[in-house]
Amino acid sequence: MPIRINPSILAADFANFERELGRIRAADLVHVDIMDNHFVPNLTFGLGMVERLQQVSPLPLDVHLMIDDPDRWAPGYAEVGASSVTFHAEAVSDPVALARRLRSIGARAGIALKPGTSVEPYLELLPEFDQVLVMTVEPGFGGQSFMDSTMHKLHALRAAVHRGGLDVWLQVDGGITAETIDIAAEAGADTFVAGSSVFGAADPGEQIALLRAAAAR
Ligand code: DX5
Ligand code: ZN
Repeated sequence: MPIRINPSILAADFANFERELGRIRAADLVHVDIMDNHFVPNLTFGLGMVERLQQVSPLPLDVHLMIDDPDRWAPGYAEVGASSVTFHAEAVSDPVALARRLRSIGARAGIALKPGTSVEPYLELLPEFDQVLVMTVEPGFGGQSFMDSTMHKLHALRAAVHRGGLDVWLQVDGGITAETIDIAAEAGADTFVAGSSVFGAADPGEQIALLRAAAAR
C-alpha cells in the first residue's frame, strides 16, 4: 500500500511560505488548513492564499476546510486547482452533492470526521469519496497529542474499503510523529498529515523519510 506524507503548513513560518515549501520537497502533498473562527476557534487563511500557494508550490495541495457552510465555499478551492478538498461531516448539509461537485471540477473529494463523530453513517457513502480524514485531535490547533481512541474508525474504514474494492485514501491528522505514526498505519491509515513534527525538525526532509519508514514498518 503506498504511503503518503502530507506536511501541514499550519506549523510553517507564515511569513515565508515559499521558502518553507522548499523544505518539504520529499513530501507527497502539502496540507493546507483553512479555519474560519466559527467551525473551530482559530483563523488561518482563505481562498486568495490557496490560489497563490497553488502557483508557487512544487507539490499538489491537500486542502482541509475547517469551516461552516462548506457546501457554499468548498468548490472555490477546487476551482483554483487544489488537488484534494476535504470538508467536515459536522458542517456539511449535503455531503454527496458536494463531493460530486468537487469531483466534477477535477478535485479529489474528502470528508473529515472530528474525534467524536461516528464513522458508521459514512461507510456506505465511501464510493462517493476519494479520501476520508479521521481527525486524531480536536481540530483547530497544531501541536496537540494523538488520540488513539479514534483508531476503531480506521479499522472500520479499511475493512469497508477492502470489502468494496475501493480506492479511497484513509488519512489521519493531528499529533502524528515518528512515535505515533505506526499506530495509525497499523489501524489502516495510508495518508499522514504532520505539522509540528515535520516543520519543527531541524531537517524536515529527513523527518519525512523517518515518518515514511515508520509508517511502512
Ligand atoms: C489541526 C489541523 C492539523 C494540524 C496538525 O486542526 O487540522 O492539520 O496542522 O498539526 P500537528 O501535526 O502539529 O498535530
Ligand atoms: Zn488539517
